[in-house]
Amino acid sequence: MTHSEYKLISDDFSPVPTAHLAAPTISGVEAFSDDLDVIGITVGTDDDAQELVGIDAEALKRAGFEGKSGNVIRLVQAHGPELIVLGVGERDEVSDAVVRDVAATFARSAKSYAKLGIRVTGFDSLKADALGQALAEGVVLARYRYNPLKSDPKDVVLETIEILVDGVSASDVEEGARVGAVTARAASLARDLANTPPGHLTATDFADVAESIGAEAGLAITVFDKRQLIELGCGALLGVNAGSAEEPRMIQVRYAPENPTGHLALVGKGITYDSGGISLKPSNPMHVLMKMDMAGAGAAFAAMTVLKELDCPTAVTAYLMCTDNMPSGSAVKLGDVLTAHDGTTIEVKNTDAEGRLVMADALALASEESPDAIVDIATLTGAALAALGQSRAAMFGNTQSLVDQVRTAADATDEPVWQLPLERKYRKRLDSTIADISNMGGSYAGATMAALFLEGFVKNVPWAHLDIAGTMNVESDESWRSLGATGFGTRLLIELAQSFAPASSD
Ligand code: BES
Ligand code: ZN
Ligand code: ZN
Repeated sequence: MTHSEYKLISDDFSPVPTAHLAAPTISGVEAFSDDLDVIGITVGTDDDAQELVGIDAEALKRAGFEGKSGNVIRLVQAHGPELIVLGVGERDEVSDAVVRDVAATFARSAKSYAKLGIRVTGFDSLKADALGQALAEGVVLARYRYNPLKSDPKDVVLETIEILVDGVSASDVEEGARVGAVTARAASLARDLANTPPGHLTATDFADVAESIGAEAGLAITVFDKRQLIELGCGALLGVNAGSAEEPRMIQVRYAPENPTGHLALVGKGITYDSGGISLKPSNPMHVLMKMDMAGAGAAFAAMTVLKELDCPTAVTAYLMCTDNMPSGSAVKLGDVLTAHDGTTIEVKNTDAEGRLVMADALALASEESPDAIVDIATLTGAALAALGQSRAAMFGNTQSLVDQVRTAADATDEPVWQLPLERKYRKRLDSTIADISNMGGSYAGATMAALFLEGFVKNVPWAHLDIAGTMNVESDESWRSLGATGFGTRLLIELAQSFAPASSD
């Protein structure tokens, strides 16, 4: 029996609705076409509003618009498209992130319209292609909605985005916008996977999606089922899966361009639902979010789906470690000892610290190929959320030059990270009296303890770890993030793969 029979999931349900949606047409233009529904115009605090929108600054001010960042005023027209005036603040503070955010604000203000134009003035200090990319990302990501399980979704689908940048070549802007549409599609795919309910996205379903999308994206996908994971000795992933009615899957994804300039390995936590296992999480409506405990694997996979299209020069191999974490008569018990792929024995002191277990097997496996670097991404600890909140992810690493590359990529895509110290003197708190290591090290510095655990499975490879427990989700629309799963890390990983230079060891 396929689970679609007993769960009454219709055969045409897809965990990745974005993959079936027609992408909007995005173009750079010298003048807007005459069938647009709405036009957004940026006005900064130092700009001449009269010249840009035909209304003097005093009148706009009386209506509450002063050109400050986040200011928006709608001007309904008797004929032709509605005008939306968008404040961008002071000119000397503009950046790609400001542009992305203003595009997002515009797209949300225009949510009842399908054909959008946006005119941008005074951003000459930014590169034309970066400007086009940020504008496309902002619009597409802000209009993202997860609605495949609604009977009658009301969301208007984007059809057209025309971008007009005063004084800048339309074709350069369009070239950037093309890239932005691709990176935004990848992030939307990651959001789809994380927003999908846990019953609709099991580890097996994830592998099926990876195989079908991966083939179209020019990736080589190898799926390891339970029997193959036993043969491979992935005892940590198997241990987490022990309580589940669903089989685990390890999905290996390879992108291999001709003459690569380096080899990057990615590892993603793919817990399709984290109940805590025998260390059951207390009942709390917030735990619907634990369907997103595969957001790391989702971001890593989604990033890989566009590398070929973007002609990425780096070879990338991803390991997605997928299972749910469930309590049952067959579940791993506290005090059980698991054997990871590299032979390390792990005493399980808390079954809710399952992420680091599934990552352990993958980090050991990834190390065996001696890639130039390993970057892992995981919704790993509540402590990362408590320390940094929902905007910034925690980062750790064993090689500063790699950590710096990840930070540069994160700054470029406005998926901000903050490096925390890998405080090795705490490592002894992970000691076990009966095994090589335990999966919990007390209640302080939770994100650090998890990172220290992971570090032990990385063998002589530059490594960086992103803990995205805080940034995987937002409760309301905010900048490029739309309500629900954010897809955080997807664009960062694409940017990193695009710009990756093998790190010199330090
Ligand atoms: N998936 C959770 C971490 C998490 C918490 C993600 C909140 C997103 C939002 C992880 O598996 C977990 O339960 N971690 C425990 C570890 C502890 C038992 C050592 C935690 O952070 O409490
Ligand atoms: Zn957990
Ligand atoms: Zn978890």
